[in-house]
Amino acid sequence: MKPVGVRIAQIADLHFGRDVQSVTESLLRELREVGPTMIAVCGDLTQTARDSEFRAARAFLDRLAAPTLVVPGNHDLPGWTFWSRFLWPWRRWRRHMRTDPHGAVTHESDGLIAVGVNTARSWGLHHDWSRGRINLRQLRAVRAAFDGAPRDDLRVVIGHHPFLLNERGIERGLVGRSALALRHLRRRADLLLGGHIHVAYSGVVDGLVVAQCGTAVSDRLKGEPNSYNLIEAEGDRIAVSVRRLDGGRFDTHERAEYARDDHEWHALGA
Ligand SMILES: [Fe+2]
Ligand SMILES: [Fe+2]
Repeated sequence: MKPVGVRIAQIADLHFGRDVQSVTESLLRELREVGPTMIAVCGDLTQTARDSEFRAARAFLDRLAAPTLVVPGNHDLPGWTFWSRFLWPWRRWRRHMRTDPHGAVTHESDGLIAVGVNTARSWGLHHDWSRGRINLRQLRAVRAAFDGAPRDDLRVVIGHHPFLLNERGIERGLVGRSALALRHLRRRADLLLGGHIHVAYSGVVDGLVVAQCGTAVSDRLKGEPNSYNLIEAEGDRIAVSVRRLDGGRFDTHERAEYARDDHEWHALGA
């Protein structure tokens, strides 16, 4: 049996603390109209991980009228508050988001299995601690969730850091251990969702569709308007529409289509 009519709204980089209230209201209106199967929230919900920012993010999530799967981003860690960052990096996340940042978060519905992983790290052996990483424990959790799901379910991994870069995000780097992750996920997953770069694009890597979205509601624009991705999947087809804010409404700016052949995806018209 083929999966039927899965619609995922992919939002990221809300950065409450740098949010624009009118944009937030436009997005909430849009998401109500679209009525997605699931809303994937791909990290950076806050700007500096303050309690007030988490409270605003929580209030936003509570207004969503669809099931949500939420993962953290690097901005959801306390920035340079030494003790907080190293001793209790996820204390505020736990308090407000009420999920375990070290566990995999799973959403299942008819035709869809989605697993969220936390790719943000409080420190690393490199100078840029905004970079993220995925580890073997997380990959095993993703595989276990997928192994227990019907084979024809759409299999989605939700994180913050990218598995595919375009020319505008090239200096930001891929998620750490991306090559290992792709070896584990190839022919097991269908779709990898992320944020972090604030630029919307999609493509295929190792037979998997990768979709990245822009900043949903913040003023931290990187050369393009606020946007989110509307992903529609049915059978062996996935369509990724970048919905950009234009005059107070979100409209489709570009749409990319992908087809599956023997568990591997390729771009149509490419
Ligand atoms: Fe961000
Ligand atoms: Fe980020």
